[in-house]
Amino acid sequence: MTAQLIDGNALSKQLRAEVAVRASALRARGITPGLAVVLVGENPASQVYVRNKVKACEDSGLHSVLEKYDASLSEADLLARVEALNNDPSIHGILVQLPLPAHIDAHKVIEAISPAKDVDGFHVASAGALMVGQPGFWPCTPYGCMKMLESIHYDLKGKHAVVIGRSNIVGKPMALMLLQKNATVTICHSGTANLKAMTLQADVIVAAVGKRNVLTADMVKPGAVVIDVGMNRNEAGKLCGDVDFDGVKEVAGYITPVPGGVGPMTITMLLVNTLEAAERA
Ligand code: GUN
Repeated sequence: MTAQLIDGNALSKQLRAEVAVRASALRARGITPGLAVVLVGENPASQVYVRNKVKACEDSGLHSVLEKYDASLSEADLLARVEALNNDPSIHGILVQLPLPAHIDAHKVIEAISPAKDVDGFHVASAGALMVGQPGFWPCTPYGCMKMLESIHYDLKGKHAVVIGRSNIVGKPMALMLLQKNATVTICHSGTANLKAMTLQADVIVAAVGKRNVLTADMVKPGAVVIDVGMNRNEAGKLCGDVDFDGVKEVAGYITPVPGGVGPMTITMLLVNTLEAAERA
């Protein structure tokens, strides 16, 4: 292995300790940062995610409320719950776990969350703020990737960053964050004609597609920084990312593992955003 590992667990531990200190300072002033997590339905992956989010809050001294609803909950009732949480002074962050059941318009629900409590950073107002460089909440996964680059003191100015994936949650905000740090950014996606030609030029590659082996060793410039946002399972059921880790680690300068890379950072940045929301309130 030639690449250095960017350890998401270790970095998370450090950042969560900082969150705990700031949370205790707020508590001393009579404010306990509070996150509401809303889960509708029984999606097994969502159940694991929300459990991890609630546990992370408890571990860092944040107050959390988990609201679980049957999959039959109406859109109107969910919107009413969001409105109640918007008006609840003990709640500083609201997270509605996605996906929602098909009969609920997720976009409408996200837009109902007060931007001041949008700790997921999914509201159009949050996306717009990121776009124009104004203060607002950044989506947790790309924000966590930026923290990982910061942790290796990587200067993005003048570097070429290639983002693979164009989702509203990761790819697009990731590209904007890299741009804000003066990287030259290329967004690649399923319609990209020659992905390898793009990635071979990259100093930084962020793979966020949700498909195994999207990035292999022959596609990586020696010394490049490779960040793997993917969360997939191989034939044996083992957790793996979008990057062929075993091959790419022999070429890259830095690489994030799966598990133990971006995953824990996503939850960490949710804690950071919730704390920020409480500090601003
Ligand atoms: N579903 C999968 N990831 C996420 C996330 O980060 N936030 C929400 N709200 N739903 C998700």
